[in-house]
Amino acid sequence: MNAILNRKSIRKYKDINVSDEIVEELLRAGMAAPSAVNEQPWEFIVLRDKEVMKKITEVHPYSQMLLNATVAIVVCGDESKEMFKGFWIQDCSAATENILIAAEEKGLGAVWLGVYPIAERVDAIKEILNLPASVIPLSIIPVGYPDEKKVAADRFNKTRIHYDRW
Ligand SMILES: Cc1cc2nc3c(=O)[nH]c(=O)nc-3n(C[C@H](O)[C@H](O)[C@H](O)COP(=O)(O)O)c2cc1C
Repeated sequence: MNAILNRKSIRKYKDINVSDEIVEELLRAGMAAPSAVNEQPWEFIVLRDKEVMKKITEVHPYSQMLLNATVAIVVCGDESKEMFKGFWIQDCSAATENILIAAEEKGLGAVWLGVYPIAERVDAIKEILNLPASVIPLSIIPVGYPDEKKVAADRFNKTRIHYDRW
């Protein structure tokens, strides 16, 4: 509960490396997500190349924080691995959220950058990352040690809860 409730979007990062071991733990959290009929359609691209990150900032208008992130994870869905059409979006969203929660728990800062379903972003990022035709980028998660202090919002709202019927 602590990691879930304290998670917030962090967009400023210190110039400190996030180790490969920590990145692997984040990916382990991502792959622990539930998926439809356990299809696990995800693929992850770990970005450390600043040139590649810069290219992404040129095609994604709300991704400038990539320029000071030491690492970023692109969460993709492979439609060829799907057993139920369209569920890759939910599967990969669950993986994305797991990574964000794991990052919070490890004292890291991260943010979900939306890619799919905006066609221009999907196409441009597919090209930059040389993704196969069936692999679609859903989100990008820049990760780093936080260089901003933020308190997570309490969004609990009883009026959004309905019992048995609307
Ligand atoms: C599907 C999705 C797409 C998002 N895309 C972006 C984005 O492109 N750039 C960005 O800075 N934040 C993005 N965010 C982060 C939201 O702005 C953020 O989650 C929201 O403002 C709530 O703040 P919090 O994460 O600190 O609780 C995205 C979040 C989601 C779930």
